[in-house]
Amino acid sequence: MTESFPDHTSGLESLVGELAGRGALADAAWKDAFTRVPRHLFIPSLVWDNDDDGWLSPVTRDDPRWWRWIYEDRHIVTQVDDGAPSGADGRGQTATSSASLPRLVARMLEELSVGDNMRVLEIGTATGYNTALLSARLGSRNVITVEIDPVLAEQGRANLERAGWSPTVVVGDGVEGVPDYAPYDRVLATVAAKNVPYAWVEQTRPGGVIVTPWGNDYLGHRLLRLEVGTDGTASGRVVGLAAFMWLRDQRARVGPWRDFVVADEAMTRTRMTLDPNAVLVEEDSGARFVIGVNVPDLYYALFRAQDDSGEFTLYLYDRHGSSALAEYEPGAADYEMRHHGPRNLWAEVEHAYRAWEEAGCPDRDRLGVTVSPAGQTVWLDVPGNPVGA
Ligand SMILES: C[S@@+](CC[C@H](N)C(=O)[O-])C[C@H]1O[C@@H](n2cnc3c(N)ncnc32)[C@H](O)[C@@H]1O
Repeated sequence: MTESFPDHTSGLESLVGELAGRGALADAAWKDAFTRVPRHLFIPSLVWDNDDDGWLSPVTRDDPRWWRWIYEDRHIVTQVDDGAPSGADGRGQTATSSASLPRLVARMLEELSVGDNMRVLEIGTATGYNTALLSARLGSRNVITVEIDPVLAEQGRANLERAGWSPTVVVGDGVEGVPDYAPYDRVLATVAAKNVPYAWVEQTRPGGVIVTPWGNDYLGHRLLRLEVGTDGTASGRVVGLAAFMWLRDQRARVGPWRDFVVADEAMTRTRMTLDPNAVLVEEDSGARFVIGVNVPDLYYALFRAQDDSGEFTLYLYDRHGSSALAEYEPGAADYEMRHHGPRNLWAEVEHAYRAWEEAGCPDRDRLGVTVSPAGQTVWLDVPGNPVGA
């Protein structure tokens, strides 16, 4: 099975040792699973590496880096541009599938808090490596995995078979979950969600756990752990950082801000008392969390005055035809605001920011998220205590 590869034993041992040394494999059962899954069986002969100019360049199996990377704690890009590299010589612009960073894989598996014989749905099969770890821990019969790209799903299934596992591999849109095999004890997404699909909640037993990379372009990339309640909702908190590619239908596709913002004169002009700096608060702050969840699909572009006045213009926009601007002057009591399109983005931001203020300006670690059929809401300290819904 492995004749065409160099001996992988020392590489696997060193990877497991490195993860354990970092505290990423505290659970002995997961450490055992990592020891039983050789990563090289899941990495395709063609992978990609980041170039300095922002493109991704192909690296093939005869390149010494290919073998070295497999047993390093690094993520490996395994598909670009949905399988059709858009650049010359096989170079790609966007990573569209990868074998995830092993320490993050370990972290996410531990956050799942599995018990023996639990049934798990994985979203985003890709190489099948993570699926193999789940199969090694829980048995293939307890693992269902879904991949949107049929070519990748087939590669993942073949890799799993070659490595000796036979979980159920489904080709489909993971946003819908996999109702045919529900309910699940656990759902693990290995692709990031801006809006946690409600199907994942519906298909998880009460008391079950959903772990998913989550966030948006304003909030950044987080790891969310939700517990499913008996009332048809799931609630939980951010438990770390997790930079993953977005679910295919939730990809950003943002280009230059000018493509999304109408001419200033075409906007409706008014004034607001909210200090525009509210949008520019630190990435890890409570205010950004409340704004980022309550004002979805939010982007901004900042233009500071070229003199020392401290003035700036801040544009807000979404990808669906709404844009707005605010003019900031230090010390002003209110600010000129203009908006255009179906949403008044500054009004939405003001509503969210004031709700955060009324809640006592809490830090981010006091805030959590509930997913219900109506969408995502933020709560303070305990579910059911909403902020800015
Ligand atoms: C980071 S990779 C997953 C890594 C994988 N678990 C592994 O161990 O190699 C993300 C995968 O999610 C897939 N994906 C993106 N959107 C999806 C969707 N809506 N449903 C199912 N899979 C999706 C991508 O095609 C990609 O293969």
